[in-house]
Amino acid sequence: MAEVVIVPDERAGGRLAAARIARLVTAKPDAVLGLATGATPLSTWAALAEYGLDLSRVRGFALDEYVGLPAGHPESYREVLMRTVVKPLGLSPDLVHVPGDDGGDIATAGQRYEEAIRAAGGVDLQVLGIGRTGHIGFNEPGSSLASLTRVKTLTEQTRRDNARFFASLDEVPRHCITQGLGTILRARELLLLAWGEAKAEALAAAVEGPVTASLPASAIQLHPEVTVIVDEAAASRLRFADYYRYAWENRPDWARDEDLPSSVTGA
Ligand code: F6R
Repeated sequence: MAEVVIVPDERAGGRLAAARIARLVTAKPDAVLGLATGATPLSTWAALAEYGLDLSRVRGFALDEYVGLPAGHPESYREVLMRTVVKPLGLSPDLVHVPGDDGGDIATAGQRYEEAIRAAGGVDLQVLGIGRTGHIGFNEPGSSLASLTRVKTLTEQTRRDNARFFASLDEVPRHCITQGLGTILRARELLLLAWGEAKAEALAAAVEGPVTASLPASAIQLHPEVTVIVDEAAASRLRFADYYRYAWENRPDWARDEDLPSSVTGA
């Protein structure tokens, strides 16, 4: 079962997620991070910046990218990552990869991306958000649990949800290239974050429902090292919320991440 941590709000969740990442990169300065975009991880990046760690050797692999946006479009995930992660955290742009951005044929870009992840030694920690359709990455319902990086078609729900970043719904691409569920499951550790009531139903199905391609995020149940960090609103549909709270409150001392801000930096 995933470890589920229910925090009061998004800010507290971001601090906890950042502590996990800080612990990893302190132990392994060239760690490989799987990078989600979207609004969910922003509080994590903000909290991580406060550690002041040298992240210039960290390597990053984006989860996904739109297909069909002109190069340099401000809402392409490459640009979003540069703006929200790479520049503010001091990552090296050359060490951050986005599927489909190598200038080659898009039809075979997925295979090249898989090879690049393998060549880097695999993803150490994959940060994930969840969509209201239950997607992780852009693996929409019906995605094979064994899928690898490939081009997919976005659902209309996801296009509408993401239209807030574009001038109009028409501008939201219909296609994307995304790490597959099989790709995500190869990461050594998963960190799934969710904030707000709109995510509650998908989150509960992902954590406590059956493992099914119809709810792609349920694939996380197949992974041995998953932490799910949610605020109260996103946790509101969890059947075993009381148990998760109890388990977290009674976690052993060696598993207390909140001490990390000083311990990882030695302050
Ligand atoms: C983004 C991604 C998506 C988002 C999800 C939630 O790279 O892979 O799965 O994590 O759509 O989006 P937000 O965080 O904007 O609610």
